[in-house]
Amino acid sequence: MVNVLVTGGAGFIGSNFVRSAHATHQDWQITTLDKLTYAGRLENLRDLEGSGRHRFVKGDIADAAVAAPLVREAHVVVHFAAETHVDRSILAAGEFIRTDVFGTFVLLEAARDATHLQRFIQISTDEVYGSVPEGHSRETDELRPRNPYSASKAAADRLAYSYWATYRVPVVITRASNNYGSHQFPEKVIPLFITNAIDSLPLPLYGDGLNVRDWLHVDDHCRAIDLVIERGGLGEVYNVGGGHEVKNIDLTHRILELIGRPASLVRPVADRPGHDRRYALDTTKLRDLGWAPRETFDDGLAATVTWYRENPWWWRPIKDQDPAFREYYQQQYRPGAGA
Ligand code: NAD
Ligand code: TYD
Repeated sequence: MVNVLVTGGAGFIGSNFVRSAHATHQDWQITTLDKLTYAGRLENLRDLEGSGRHRFVKGDIADAAVAAPLVREAHVVVHFAAETHVDRSILAAGEFIRTDVFGTFVLLEAARDATHLQRFIQISTDEVYGSVPEGHSRETDELRPRNPYSASKAAADRLAYSYWATYRVPVVITRASNNYGSHQFPEKVIPLFITNAIDSLPLPLYGDGLNVRDWLHVDDHCRAIDLVIERGGLGEVYNVGGGHEVKNIDLTHRILELIGRPASLVRPVADRPGHDRRYALDTTKLRDLGWAPRETFDDGLAATVTWYRENPWWWRPIKDQDPAFREYYQQQYRPGAGA
């Protein structure tokens, strides 16, 4: 059996990865290590309850007593665990430094004497390049992160690289663009706007709505990770981009159309401080390894809308009953908030 440790496997991308890996790789024994923060949900893994090839460990990656033994028994580590929301990092950056930077350090330290380890996949992000007014970021471009989230991810990205260069920890780094799909916490723009639209609530669009994101379906991201586990070069970085550049205002109107709600629900609000204007990736390096995205944005977005429509059991308790969500929402979208 191949022992695979997935950190952050109860979150959005991590749980999609664990589910697909469990279905595809019959010879993988998967351990999910997750602290279950506000963004981590055991329901995301409920399909795997009772499986002999998956176990869940509740714990903090920054706690070496829990994390190090798991790293030392792994053949592969896929490190998703992080604080991930830019807006939360602007409100309070401390947890981002603790988890994204220090937590990554704890895992990498353990990996130094993990004798079976063949791959340590550091899940990084296109946001480390900073705002890209034109052209497409390549893996060799300078990193210019501009908010506490992307700066903490850039620190982790380069720390992971340093453990390859210095100690030969078998690190491979992926930098993915904005993901979308099922099980995404309803604070991020696509699930927030879908669920608000379903309830005929306003869609709070930051600034002029002309910021551009390159959308990647989470299934395409998971296939890319599978590929770099198999064939990624040690110490290498791979961009993973969907190639679907969309302005936020257009995304908002598409969501309203899919749900059959009027444009009057768009609510322009103050911009995010330091809001990156555009992200865009050159994915030649990963394509040369044999990957290409399969989902079109039209189909992927429609399927995502359908998933949220059909699964209110998953998001209604968060939005309607979780006091932490309500508190965050009121703070983030209070009149006068933002830049
Ligand atoms: P998410 O916020 O949905 O999930 C993060 C998970 O990490 C949660 O289950 C949470 O409980 C867990 N976690 C947080 N702190 C932890 C800690 N100290 N110890 C153990 N577990 C902890 O995030 P996501 O959107 O699934 O992102 C996963 C990874 O992918 C992150 O590293 C993120 O930076 C990266 N990424 C995300 C996107 C995107 O668009 N969502 C794009 C590129 C890269
Ligand atoms: P988000 O999902 O937070 O991802 P990221 O900031 O990591 O790209 O936001 C995606 C885009 O949507 C980003 O340009 C900010 C914008 N946005 C809004 O306009 N309104 C919102 O309420 C949110 C959460 C995001």
